[in-house]
Amino acid sequence: MLYQELIRRKRDGHALRADELRAIVAGICDGSLGDAQLGAFAMAVLLRGMNLTERVDLTTAMRDSGTVLDWDNGPVIDKHSTGGVGDCVSLMLIPALAACGAVVPSIAGRGLGHTGGTLDKLEAIPGYDIAPDAARLRQVVAQTGCAIVGQTAALAPADKRFYAIRDVTGTVESLDLITASILSKKLAAGLEGLVLDVKCGNGAFMADMGSARSLARALVEVGNGAGCRTVALVTDMSQPLAPAAGNALEISVALDFLTGRARDARLWDVTCALGAQALVIAGLAAGPEQGSAMMAHAFQSGAAAERFARMVAALGGPADLVENVSAYLPAAPVIRPVAAPAGGYVAGYDTRAIGVAVIGLGGGRRQPSDSIDPRVGFSAIAPVGQPVQPGDPLAYVHAADPDSAAAATRAFLNTCAIQDAQNGPAPLIVDRISG
Ligand code: URA
Repeated sequence: MLYQELIRRKRDGHALRADELRAIVAGICDGSLGDAQLGAFAMAVLLRGMNLTERVDLTTAMRDSGTVLDWDNGPVIDKHSTGGVGDCVSLMLIPALAACGAVVPSIAGRGLGHTGGTLDKLEAIPGYDIAPDAARLRQVVAQTGCAIVGQTAALAPADKRFYAIRDVTGTVESLDLITASILSKKLAAGLEGLVLDVKCGNGAFMADMGSARSLARALVEVGNGAGCRTVALVTDMSQPLAPAAGNALEISVALDFLTGRARDARLWDVTCALGAQALVIAGLAAGPEQGSAMMAHAFQSGAAAERFARMVAALGGPADLVENVSAYLPAAPVIRPVAAPAGGYVAGYDTRAIGVAVIGLGGGRRQPSDSIDPRVGFSAIAPVGQPVQPGDPLAYVHAADPDSAAAATRAFLNTCAIQDAQNGPAPLIVDRISG
């Protein structure tokens, strides 16, 4: 098969067959498809689009480009979020699903752009191995019902090269390619069910509702088309989801949540709503009401906290992390309140800019090779609608030094609007999209 002929056909708006898409994916993996050809193919897809059959065929070809895990027990399920600020849901949701009887081998990612990544958060836990070999991953999942780890080179390797080429050819935004990229990695974990949290609002990649719904629909159709029961919730990301943004700070929020020391209401609602959908597609709950009740029980009984503790210990972290959080999580040397400049009500945030401010503090990457300072970020972020007096803390900045604390304080104040009248927050669970 001549690659240039396939590229020409896509360029001219024709649909490619499954064997043709498999040839392209094989060429990505063995290098016989050159960088220029891959860039041209990506641009042809971006401009001409793919039909549902092509999307499914590309996704399954990419899934099958490496190892596809299989599991002795089930139901095997996972969750994926399109990313945001203060989105630490996976840290609570994954162990809760395991406590409810699911098998959850969760392949998580690093921060992308202004968004935080679950792997970067977990690396704040001393000793936690985000890259166990296949045998250890299998053993941890067998022992605890779950493991949150990174993608290995063996899982969907076609995506790595394809993503790198998209990144430098202006083709990241293709809905077809985003869908294939996200799902090929998730499906390579051998999932039977997947719940998606597609974010919308000013801290999400798909800020407007129309784009978020289109992405959710594409992911749900292709996930189901590839044989994985898939459902999506579109949820609000127009303010940080957790009251903190930053790696160790979000682990701390998750541990407070799991143990019941503090449970933020918005975090609770999103985590239980996603969990309920996941338990229904896993066949463990008859409907979302029962799923929500099972999630609440997993948290309130301490079963989810116990699963998390076992997972952390099995992956090399401290066995008593849940009880002795402050003994293990690194703390920033400079912690300062961000004082409200005026009284009124918190009216809204430029959420993306909060994520950028965390990167400015060193809590995210400017270059792919950068290391991350897990200690930094913002805590106790006032939710939208909160009344404040002049001088009240809108948040606390955690910084490596006084200069970066001062810069982050200015940046945070620029993200926050205060007004006289009280706005309600935007609706949290905006839509549900199923196959
Ligand atoms: N996340 C991914 O894994 N791939 C994309 O293309 C976009 C977001």
